[in-house]
Amino acid sequence: MYKIASILGFDLPPLETVVVGRAVIALESTPSTNLEALLRPRDGAVYVARVQTAGRGRRGNTWHSAPDLGLWFSVSLKGTADGLSFAGALAVRRALQDRLALTVKWPNDVLIGERKVCGVLVEHRDGWNALGIGLNVHHTRRDFPEELREIAGSLESESGERWDRGAVLHAVLIALDEYLRRLRAGGFLEIYEEWVRECAILGKIIQRDGILGQVTAIDQDGALWLKTGQGMKRIASGEISLV
Ligand code: BTN
Repeated sequence: MYKIASILGFDLPPLETVVVGRAVIALESTPSTNLEALLRPRDGAVYVARVQTAGRGRRGNTWHSAPDLGLWFSVSLKGTADGLSFAGALAVRRALQDRLALTVKWPNDVLIGERKVCGVLVEHRDGWNALGIGLNVHHTRRDFPEELREIAGSLESESGERWDRGAVLHAVLIALDEYLRRLRAGGFLEIYEEWVRECAILGKIIQRDGILGQVTAIDQDGALWLKTGQGMKRIASGEISLV
């Protein structure tokens, strides 16, 4: 066991991993575990916090990271960022799929039904990456800020079952290790293709910020190519809805 229980309130069983978890650093409080992973880079180190005071989401959003309700963690990784965000979302889905049906929603959310339970954010600095994962575990609907109550969920709110954060983190880190080993062994294409399949968005009509079109391709950066009335458009990020 890692000696983290006194800080985080749960224990993490030993990891027999290759890339992920060379060190596990538990933090009582930090602005952001992604920031920790970039400021104190060490290949494979996992930074996990009880609370984040300025958790970062995509597109400059803040990520709701209340104490003890979820898993807020980042893996520090050296080298190319290619495929890291695909690996993050796929690993969460794979780690939990025996107990729950989860789906990956473009670009990198993990959902139970229509509700987002997990977000992935990869950030870079000086040749290093922080692969950050926020996974809501114990929240009831009322634990979310008002503006998230209709769209966010947690493992417990959506399954009606109890979940152990140590066991969940352990399962996700093991699944992530497997994806990262494959990526480092040249398996990018295979993982990209798995992610495209899981997103299940090819051929669908979608809408984003007034743009309506059919998804005809997803490139290897994860961007969507839409056939619209005004020609082809590339969409690299943002909130989309199916029409
Ligand atoms: C999203 O907007 O969906 C991405 C959210 C990513 C949140 C996680 S929590 C751990 C890590 N540290 C951060 O500041 N953000 C990521």
